[in-house]
Amino acid sequence: MIEGPFRDRTGHAPAVFKSWSPLHVKKEEIESEVERLSELPQPLNGRRRSLIVHPQNTRSMGIAPGIQVAVEVLKPGESTTAYRQNATQVTFAIRGRGRAYIGGRTFELGRYDVCNAPSMHVCRYENTGDELFVRLTYSNAAMLEMMNAFWEEEAAEFIAPQVKERPSAPDNRPLAKKFDSFQITDLGAWLMPYETLINPEVVESRALHWPWAAVKSHLDELGDLNKEYVGRRLYGLYNPVTGRTNGITPNFFATITVRPPKIVDRPHRHMSTATTYFFHGSGRSTVDGQVFEWKAGDLMLSAPSWAVHNSASDTESVYELTIQDQPLNIAMESLLWQESLKLPMAVLGVEEGFGTNR
Ligand SMILES: [Fe+2]
Repeated sequence: MIEGPFRDRTGHAPAVFKSWSPLHVKKEEIESEVERLSELPQPLNGRRRSLIVHPQNTRSMGIAPGIQVAVEVLKPGESTTAYRQNATQVTFAIRGRGRAYIGGRTFELGRYDVCNAPSMHVCRYENTGDELFVRLTYSNAAMLEMMNAFWEEEAAEFIAPQVKERPSAPDNRPLAKKFDSFQITDLGAWLMPYETLINPEVVESRALHWPWAAVKSHLDELGDLNKEYVGRRLYGLYNPVTGRTNGITPNFFATITVRPPKIVDRPHRHMSTATTYFFHGSGRSTVDGQVFEWKAGDLMLSAPSWAVHNSASDTESVYELTIQDQPLNIAMESLLWQESLKLPMAVLGVEEGFGTNR
């Protein structure tokens, strides 16, 4: 007889891993949702948006447990009210042009530009063109919803988050010594005082902008790598605040890949989950044994955690944006990765990773 909150797991065997199904959202479906949103009366907060939710998701409004994707539309002349949230966001402009105001910075966004919005930075978007301004916004709100930790508010004005400079070392205040962490075992176990826990090191988190023209010029050089190259021809849009986790936000990396014609990736898998938006060319992906034919304008949940996957381009170059919750998994030490099915898995960020033939 089990009492109260307890669930007996005595002798419980590890569960068999089961990935979510891949999800393929076609260009036509996205376009018709964009049309539907544009025909609604403008809401009070100005935010015409629709979330792409995975049919297996019973826990949050995400396309994956850790990734939320929103399609956001502004008609010419429209703008959103200001909002802020403790989720971190990545914005990808897929149609038209507009302006992003993020934490006191202003970015002019053209087609295929990317920008990030740090936690609690006040955000506002405006259509500055004469056609629809459409963005895909990726955030970790879905994961925060599952943690019951998602905070969002909308208002015309906010007070910007306060970033105070920490005193530079050496700190000679008499009490400072008491507030230092200190080692208590030879192996490296430390104790940390409460004062540090409630005032961790402050690192300025900035909104940044990756204009497509600048990214593309560097990316196209990778297209020259010969056909035998076994890596991916991509650049990560790197935000240095994410340090060793290689992200654009603490949760996500954002990579833009070029696939020259007729290139086939090696099958591989990783515990991080990836969504891909294809914006030039066409090709196919095999995910967990299912084949998906895609083209520019399609969005895919292309790598549900631990599903074996690979992709191939057709006869013209492919460009794609991949958002993957790899940095979060590096920080959690949960990033199992198998770059080739012939190699053993490694915990990336904790043990030696993989190489290419470049
Ligand atoms: Fe992958």
